Amino acid sequence: MTHAEDAPGSSDLVVVANRLPLGIDEDGGWQRSPGGLVTALEPTLRAREGAWVGWPGRPDVEAEPFDDDGLAIRPVAISADEVAEYYEGFANATLWPLYHDVVVTPHFERSWWEAYRQVNERFADAAARSAAQGATVWVQDYQLQLVPHLLRERRPDLHIGFFLHIPFPPPELFAQLPWRDAVVEGLLGADVIGFQTAGGAGNFRRVATRLTDAEADPGTGPETSADHLTAPDGRSVSVAAYPISVDAPQLDEMARDPETAERAEALRHELGDPRTVLLGVDRLDYTKGIDVRLQAFAEALRDGKLDAGETVLVQVATPSRERVEHYAEMRDKIELSVGRINGEYASIGRPVIHYVHQGVPREELVSFYRCADVMLVTPYRDGMNLVAKEYVASRSDGGGALVLSEFTGAADELGDGAYLVNPHDIHAVGDAIVAAASQDPEEARRRMGLLHAQVLEHDVERWAARFLEALGVSS
Ligand code: ADP
Ligand code: F6P
Repeated sequence: MTHAEDAPGSSDLVVVANRLPLGIDEDGGWQRSPGGLVTALEPTLRAREGAWVGWPGRPDVEAEPFDDDGLAIRPVAISADEVAEYYEGFANATLWPLYHDVVVTPHFERSWWEAYRQVNERFADAAARSAAQGATVWVQDYQLQLVPHLLRERRPDLHIGFFLHIPFPPPELFAQLPWRDAVVEGLLGADVIGFQTAGGAGNFRRVATRLTDAEADPGTGPETSADHLTAPDGRSVSVAAYPISVDAPQLDEMARDPETAERAEALRHELGDPRTVLLGVDRLDYTKGIDVRLQAFAEALRDGKLDAGETVLVQVATPSRERVEHYAEMRDKIELSVGRINGEYASIGRPVIHYVHQGVPREELVSFYRCADVMLVTPYRDGMNLVAKEYVASRSDGGGALVLSEFTGAADELGDGAYLVNPHDIHAVGDAIVAAASQDPEEARRRMGLLHAQVLEHDVERWAARFLEALGVSS
């Protein structure tokens, strides 16, 4: 890491995201940040020597800009009050539940909205300072939906893109938001607005044309996969689906490394050499349906469909948003379930569930993927779910099986090879786990072959190149 030599205002490509790819930890050191957004964007931006404007992840940290191996890091400070109101409040207790189908009840607080507005202004200022004349600025996710409009006011010379990593809800849900008009106006400041799925893009088109004077261009219906709106200020805004992905070639290579296979074998041994290893890997978030899979697993053990002596479930859960009420409640609920299920079905020294409330290094994660016979991805709603794609990218051996919620963006692409389930139907989830665990090896290889090829072809580089091309940046 070296201090930046280039003056602010010199970057031709700027990503603006709530979190920097590196965050400051408790000891003041820089650590990789959690979550799918960073996983997806970091390799892309590094390859293009861009700048990243974002928060270092701790309140009141005034960090200097620096260069990290070609990537210009541009920290934005957020105060403790703003963390409570903008990040934990408006972003994660208002927008997050509202956009995820109201899985829990969103809170609407005027002071949170004011903090959201103010912090969005600060990010827009920082982006305006970092971008060179005529540069491309790519704004990310629900925390920064006002930035496109605010940035256009400051810098009309820029090409501005926005990508939403989470679902965009149907108009009937979005309309609950008291500040809905300002959010749509914020997004319409972009030249290109990208969503994970065609459904999300269609929802936004319907919302924009109902709530503002934006008009759908003649000849393009609201359900088409690429579409244009004419914004109220007369600009043409492209609205389309760009399903995000993972660095599949890198995962594939890591998974093929003999050390990974050795580590996967060692893990299985440490787990007691069970016949079947089930795996869940998630941020500890109530949208991820961790409770569903635990309950489905317990019912399958109870009904004798899975054998407690031969089956192990590993749940790796990264701590996330721990001060937000619904997250704390959910953590308690999950840890209680793990204890109860182990209490009922484990024997001494042989738990049926291994629960890890920690982040895991990437190499180790790939070994977990290689060790898992069945990957459990059961969100109630998820924009994409990169874990599903990471798992299949790691299975060039043709082994393993994916149980996947139909309410993830990933289901649009991986439906052919995965065991698709409705996470609200516990029995169906249990049946899918049992079917995946007992599948015929030939059929298993056929399914995983389809999934692996799909993700290898549609990797994160292709996603970024497609989006940036729409913004006028050639690869
Ligand atoms: P989200 O963006 O909601 O967190 P995704 O599934 O799209 O969900 O992305 C999660 C990312 O975080 C993936 O890259 C995954 O590998 C990583 N991740 C999740 N849990 C862990 C963990 N316990 N340790 C390390 N990485 C994790
Ligand atoms: O992909 C959704 C997302 O909220 C990203 O915006 C974020 O970086 C990631 O999940 C992790 O969440 P957080 O930044 O709140 O820890």
